[in-house]
Amino acid sequence: MQFDLFDSTQNKILDAKTYGEFKEALARSNCTQCALSESRSHIVVDRGNPSAKVLMIGEGPGENEDLQGKAFVGRAGQLLDELMKNLGFDTNRDSLIINVVKCRPPENRSPKQEEVGACAPFLKKQIELVRPKIILLLGAVALKHVIKDKTEFSMGEEAGTFFERPEFPGVKFMVLYHPAFILRDPRKKPVMIEHLKRFKAYWDSINTEPS
Ligand code: URA
Repeated sequence: MQFDLFDSTQNKILDAKTYGEFKEALARSNCTQCALSESRSHIVVDRGNPSAKVLMIGEGPGENEDLQGKAFVGRAGQLLDELMKNLGFDTNRDSLIINVVKCRPPENRSPKQEEVGACAPFLKKQIELVRPKIILLLGAVALKHVIKDKTEFSMGEEAGTFFERPEFPGVKFMVLYHPAFILRDPRKKPVMIEHLKRFKAYWDSINTEPS
């Protein structure tokens, strides 16, 4: 979606030269590009380190995220932090965590296409400014909205495998189960841990490469 040339608030956000400028402008913007703005408490831009090489993308803020204005701070986020910490990965230091939509969908429903479309320029800008080496897509909603031609797929087949995309040169992708799914079905936890170990092995390998 293209924002109106005369919408100076949106232009200021999208013209930001640094991640810090972008974040501040978006968080303060009182954006009303979609109906999610009517019920939100905070615009949730992210959590973590924008200088990290790993970008994790979830679906949208839940209740705790909406109240605190930070991504993945509820039960799902705590599980993600714990699983990563067990592998020696600190989500706040070693990654930036963002969402496809920045405002909470009521009742935690999946975001609608028009809401994802309205937020898409912000997601694109985040990826451009962060320039990650690895993108972890947390769950099916992140996969289908970031990789546009992924309309039919099975998470059982997609989760845990690396892939690359011509529209994101130099970026390695991995799809993971969403941590909220693991909370609902803990039998999938060992599989997710296996996937995370694969990711961690790759992350370690790029961190030991001479830069
Ligand atoms: N689930 C998400 O997809 N994102 C959050 O920020 C929290 C829960």
